[in-house]
Amino acid sequence: MTASQDFSVWTKCVQARMEDALKEYLPATAEVPQRLHEAMRYAVLDGGKRVRPLLVFAAGDLFGAGEAMLSRAAAAVEMIHAYSLVHDDMPCMDDDELRRGKPTVHVQYDEATALLVGDALQSQAFLALSEGELDVDPARRLAMVRELARASGSVGMCGGQAIDLASVGHKLTLEQLEQMHLMKTGALLRVSVLLGALAGKELSVAEVASLNAYSKAVGLAFQVVDDVLDATEDSATLGKTAGKDAADNKPTYVSILGLEESKALAEQLRRDAHEALTPFGDKARRLREIADLIVQRKA
Ligand code: IPE
Ligand code: IPE
Ligand code: MG
Ligand code: MG
Ligand code: MG
Repeated sequence: MTASQDFSVWTKCVQARMEDALKEYLPATAEVPQRLHEAMRYAVLDGGKRVRPLLVFAAGDLFGAGEAMLSRAAAAVEMIHAYSLVHDDMPCMDDDELRRGKPTVHVQYDEATALLVGDALQSQAFLALSEGELDVDPARRLAMVRELARASGSVGMCGGQAIDLASVGHKLTLEQLEQMHLMKTGALLRVSVLLGALAGKELSVAEVASLNAYSKAVGLAFQVVDDVLDATEDSATLGKTAGKDAADNKPTYVSILGLEESKALAEQLRRDAHEALTPFGDKARRLREIADLIVQRKA
């Protein structure tokens, strides 16, 4: 992976590397309990856009991080993300049957297995992040573990999911909607950028502020676009059930702002993301390209 590569080539390199790393860090199917391990691998491998790993590698690139640490950090975030999807799809949450073009884990296996897959993937993520002899200062590595824990928990992804479920049938204000999106989706995207950067060096206050401004914009944009795609694309394109938000009476950007305004907001957020990277100059090219990808994607 080099700075001069075309973005689509770079993306494919990171995705391929991620698939290998995830295969290595997940328990082998032959290990007991085999069915749980098989289901964990089913949930994580062979699917997904791997946007969070792309952010980890792009931020790592900017701060000169080593590939081994980036690989562990990216795998850890992707495992938390995969766990969040397995639980998000369960009957007690969004009750979805299709994910990444395949039957969801509770459909393919059963509900108890899906619950345990999520639980076990969460632990596996922290194992992946904290194992291995790596050339990263232990205090910085601990900070990475701490940031991932915070982003995943009740003030991050889980908290956002709780607000999402409590909001069904309610009309949220734009401010409340933004907070929900920043927590349920933005937190994991933000920590992806942060882990990649921390894998490279200790960050200055100004660097953290610029990265946070970028992450806030792409984190929000990601869920705005997810809401738009839910309303505009079909299930085959998305690999998950389309039209689910309206059917479930979820408050989304589309239900509150309408389609055109939501698309315009996503475009504004893309520009905000670019602007936040100004202090880093050309070296932040990959992060800019990912902001474009997040807003222009069709699935
Ligand atoms: C879907 O995330 C769930 C949201 C946070 C909106 P992605 O769109 O990144 O899903 P995969 O990983 O590509 O399947
Ligand atoms: C899910 O948001 C965010 C998560 C934390 C998993 P959605 O419920 O909109 O995600 P999809 O549309 O099912 O992927
Ligand atoms: Mg949901
Ligand atoms: Mg869902
Ligand atoms: Mg959605």
